This record gives sequence, C-alpha cells and structure tokens, in this order.
Amino acid sequence: MTVREATAFAPASVGNVAIGFDILGFSVEALGDRVTVRRTDAPGVTIRAIEGVAANLPLEAAGNTAGRALLAMREALALPFGFEMSIVKGIPLGSGLGGSAASAVGAVVAANAVLDAPQPQLELLKFAMQGEAVASGSLHVDNIAPSLYGGLVLTVGIEQPRVKQIPVPPGVQAVIVHPHMFLGTREARAILAKTVALSDFVWQTAHLAGFISGCYTNDLDLIRTSLDDVVIEPQRHALIPGFKDVRAAAILAGALGCSISGAGPTMFAWSVAASAPAVREAMVAAFGARGIATDHWIVDIESRGARVESGGS
Ligand code: HSE
Repeated sequence: MTVREATAFAPASVGNVAIGFDILGFSVEALGDRVTVRRTDAPGVTIRAIEGVAANLPLEAAGNTAGRALLAMREALALPFGFEMSIVKGIPLGSGLGGSAASAVGAVVAANAVLDAPQPQLELLKFAMQGEAVASGSLHVDNIAPSLYGGLVLTVGIEQPRVKQIPVPPGVQAVIVHPHMFLGTREARAILAKTVALSDFVWQTAHLAGFISGCYTNDLDLIRTSLDDVVIEPQRHALIPGFKDVRAAAILAGALGCSISGAGPTMFAWSVAASAPAVREAMVAAFGARGIATDHWIVDIESRGARVESGGS
C-alpha cells in the first residue's frame, strides 16, 4: 500500500569548500530542515506551514524552494495527484549553511516516499536543483548534492549531473562558526566578477585538484596548501566583518584551512581533531572581539545525507 505521508530530514551543508565554487560541498549533520509531505487527491503543491528558526518564508509554492522542487517533480513525472507539506527550518536564513537547499532536498526525499514509483537519487537531485534556483537565482549544486547524498560531494554537470562522494581523511573534522548576521545568497553572487584572470584560474584549478588528490591520499600537507580560494573569497570577504582576523586566528590555532561557508557569513575550517577545539575557540574569539555573537560546531564529515524519518517504506 502506498504511504500517504512522510517526514524527511535534510542536513545543512558547507558549499564551495573554498576551492570548488558551485560544485563542491560537505554535509553538516548538526543542523538541518525537516519536511513533512502528504499526498493529496487535489493536484498542485500547497505549503501549510513553515516553522522553526526561519519561519518568515514564502508560502506560495512557486516562490518557495521546497515548493518549487515539488512542482518540478510533479511536472516531470506527470503525477495525477498533488502534495501538501509543512517545513520545520533548523537552518538559519541567510547563514551560508545551505538552508534553501535542505528544504528542497527534504521535500523531494519525503515526497519520494509517497510516490507509487520512487525515483533514483539523481532524479531527486535534479528536482531539488530547481528549488535551489528560486533562492539563489542559479542552478548550483554544491549545497543540494551534499545535503542529499551526505559527506564531501563533488558534482560535475548541470543537465546530466555526475555526483561523486569524496573520502575525507580519517581524523579530519570541520569547525563551523555562524556569526549572527544575515547575508543573502543573491547579493553575494551579484558582486562577483564575470571573468577570472588567467593566473587565478591556474591557481584555483591547481588547488581544487590538489585538495581532491589530498583527500584520496590522506595527504594533509597537500590539503593545507590547497584549501585556498584565490577567486571567490577575495571578492566576498569584505561582506563578513572580521573575516581576515577569524581566518588568521583559525590558521594560527592549527587549522588546515579556513574560508567562507557558501555565500557566507558562516565561516568553516578543516582541522585534525586534536586541534579542532582550539580552532573553534580562536574563531569564536575573533568574531567576539568585534562584538559579533556566534553559534559554533565541531563536526565529523559524515557520509550520511537526507533520509526519511517517518512514514516511508
Ligand atoms: N556556491 C554558492 C555560492 C553557494 O557560493 O554562491 C551558496 O550557498
């Protein structure tokens, strides 16, 4: 018998990971969004409620990331029924932690559990991408893919995306520090130059290749050298008060690297577990020196993505 209602959890994520603009991200289990989807006889997509840490979001389906994702699913699969959903946001709005992606991913994972013919993950990714575009104005995948698949995830391609979960060296953790301020993804994308200098292109591709190679070979020195964004970070860091101090403090405390999470203002660092508490303390103190309060986490980069928590088969 087809299940008529399901609830899914979709984790937060850190996009770009400094050197993989729009294509590389990792999931953050410490926080996420919960979406409950109910199958309805009436066609269309209705959002009944949005609660939690970011409740002031559009209830009209076409203007909401989760709603748009389910509209895309209905249309692509020519479904004869509709969906009703409610969302509990666990990810602050405008934090750079992939909140819009998590809502879209949670919606498609919950909806998938009430379909007569559940779809493969790759199809769910494409539906969720349509949702993400509502929030950011572009079809980027660096939050959607890690939230859906879990772990450190590289996605190649938009029309026919190829998703690769990259191994994270044992003992490496992520430090996530969220300053209490809002930064819109659209705005943080709008300031970016449309062209890249040739030398920056060379360094950025070298760093991305070095970082991925370092992950596969457990080469922490190569990761340390490579976790350095020479293209996007220099254009965006001025949007985050104290960025340079926070980054310098993290590196001094032993971080392998430190950069902006997604479009910001959250910052992340990678660190070996032994140094992670000192890295966190240093980053929090550097924001604090500017009078900026923060939330902060030390997390393992777990290869566990969105999942149905109740109601699914
Ligand atoms: N890759 C996107 C950006 C992530 O940096 O604009 C937004 O969350």
